[in-house]
Amino acid sequence: MPRRPPLACVLVCVTLPALAAPASATTLRAAAALSGLHVGAATGQVELAAGAATLVAAEFGSVTAENDMKWSVLEPAPGVRDWSRADALVTFAEANGMRVRGHTLVWGRSNGPPSWLEASLAASPDPSLALEDLMLGHIAAVAGRYAGRIHSWDVVNEPLAFSSASYDTSSPYYRHLGPGFVADAFRAARAADPGAKLYLNEVGTETNPAKFEGLLTLLEGLLAEGVPIDGVGLQGHFLARPNRADLTARLQAIAALGLEVEITELDLPLVLFGARPDPLAAQAAAYADVFSACLAVAACRGITTWGVTDAGSWLDDEPFFRSFAPNRPLLFDEQGSPKPAREAVVAVLLAVPEPGPAASLALGLLALAAHGRLRRRPRTS
Ligand code: XIL
Repeated sequence: MPRRPPLACVLVCVTLPALAAPASATTLRAAAALSGLHVGAATGQVELAAGAATLVAAEFGSVTAENDMKWSVLEPAPGVRDWSRADALVTFAEANGMRVRGHTLVWGRSNGPPSWLEASLAASPDPSLALEDLMLGHIAAVAGRYAGRIHSWDVVNEPLAFSSASYDTSSPYYRHLGPGFVADAFRAARAADPGAKLYLNEVGTETNPAKFEGLLTLLEGLLAEGVPIDGVGLQGHFLARPNRADLTARLQAIAALGLEVEITELDLPLVLFGARPDPLAAQAAAYADVFSACLAVAACRGITTWGVTDAGSWLDDEPFFRSFAPNRPLLFDEQGSPKPAREAVVAVLLAVPEPGPAASLALGLLALAAHGRLRRRPRTS
């Protein structure tokens, strides 16, 4: 099925200069709107306030909360909620007509759980019951607060072990609640925000076939149980150069389950291309491959880069990748200037065959306007 961007979006999001200009001057946001793909970036209130807001609003039609909606940020002390960063991000997105991906309601690693959680569970007479209450209360509070304003939630992030197909047995959720926590979380999220698309988000399945099989098995089990899940996020923190055919096949396998899919946390550090004569060009080609794979599968709805510019990539602080810093894994350089990868992505988005009828109409109207043919005639009397 060809992608059809909604007419309103085309008219509002695609500016005349973008269409009249060569591909290199077209904004990523305008190209994405024409292609029908949601293209976003992970960011947060601190980065936006520090000056990224203009670039983000100009170039992306979607934002993901990089950290601002994690439980550790939203509830820094037991029972003490701080909505300030998440509220500001949602307000920014709405003011700029952007969609919001909520990230993430249930994550057992890194800065997902609040620092007080383990001690609080240890002090409880029934840690399993305590965690169940906390998890369900957290989902109800957060998804409920933003109900109707979040396009899609990463309800459960990384339920599987980092590099195998089994559950992550070190996660507090798995340890205390067993595998059923995944289904419980999705049911609670649906109850709190019936309109949001509910995603399971996973790391490392793009380049690990065994783990990808484990993901499919998990999804089949959830679907068989009638769990309300709409989509799957493949994070896209590539540990090897992406293979376009493999990635396309994986996206198709998820689509075949009747689910939608997005690449939710894409970054491609330069170390993956270090041996190439022109690493930035090789990085651009790899970005183009990932976007082409998604565009080839109708169920693939969006791609989000994990960060805005190379100055703010999490990889430069990540234990493994920090030894390769600067990783320069994103579409914009440290100064916010477009990299070859951003140009390659725009070209791929603009090359989507056959704009649908809505896009054609919008292009036609805008072309007429460009020639001064839609101007109102001055009144003569
Ligand atoms: C990362 C953030 O980018 C960092 O700023 C933070 O210190 C740790 O978390 N997978 C995920 C994201 O799902 O939430 C992680 O984000 C990156 C890996």
